[in-house]
Amino acid sequence: MKNIHDFIKMKKNEELISFITCYDYWSARIINETNIDAILVGDSVSMVMHGYETTINADINMLELHVKAVRRGAKDKFIVADMPFLAHKKGIKNTMNNVDILMKAGANAIKVEGAEGQLDILEYIIKSGVPVMGHLGLTPQSINIFGGYKVQAKEETEMNKLLSSAISLQDVGCFSIVLELVPSSIAKKITEQLNIPTIGIGAGPDTSGQVLVLHDMLGLNKEFKPKFLREYLNGFELIKTAIENYDNEVKSKKFPTEKESY
Ligand code: KIV
Repeated sequence: MKNIHDFIKMKKNEELISFITCYDYWSARIINETNIDAILVGDSVSMVMHGYETTINADINMLELHVKAVRRGAKDKFIVADMPFLAHKKGIKNTMNNVDILMKAGANAIKVEGAEGQLDILEYIIKSGVPVMGHLGLTPQSINIFGGYKVQAKEETEMNKLLSSAISLQDVGCFSIVLELVPSSIAKKITEQLNIPTIGIGAGPDTSGQVLVLHDMLGLNKEFKPKFLREYLNGFELIKTAIENYDNEVKSKKFPTEKESY
């Protein structure tokens, strides 16, 4: 299993890092047999696995359940677990209880969205022995502030702010930062200025690595086709066809055959 020092070394050696989200045991077993460097049990679990409209509905119990399942399936992978909406905003005791839950569920690190107003708490978590991954740009837990899933930091002042937030996260000890939906030019600049790796999603080709949501890259979500997404499978159609074939064969008495019977 890779660790945070491996990721920092990979960045230094310009070796690209692959992250993928995962939420369940069987997908974790498959990912465990690939060369993917790390798994993110993201709060996108609320949308992908539970059908909510946003990540705001993810809570610590949901994350705990899914981190446990993924850890059982992916014994050899570094797992980052998302701190869900407001999980680090209700006082230090509550924050540390939530961190404790995720780490005991099997995470190797946690991810926290944003920088402003929370550098102290991030430093406290890190100094407590828990690696933290930052997340800047489009931070989906703040969707109601952004007013939609739009590319962030298009103007120079916002780009400068993003760069200074990234430097602050590095300074408090984050081991890596996700950059979501930002122009490639600023993602490149941030990546060049930091010693820790940047992991992009919709941030262009010049970050230290990439992350995609598993179900999106498998083509399971017919409605979600953003420009940054590459689908590696036509998963929706393939699975639908398999289920239709089964239905047809049951109804035409082609399944089961004698060979499939006792
Ligand atoms: O929750 C998630 O899946 C994420 C990724 C999109 C980076 O935060």
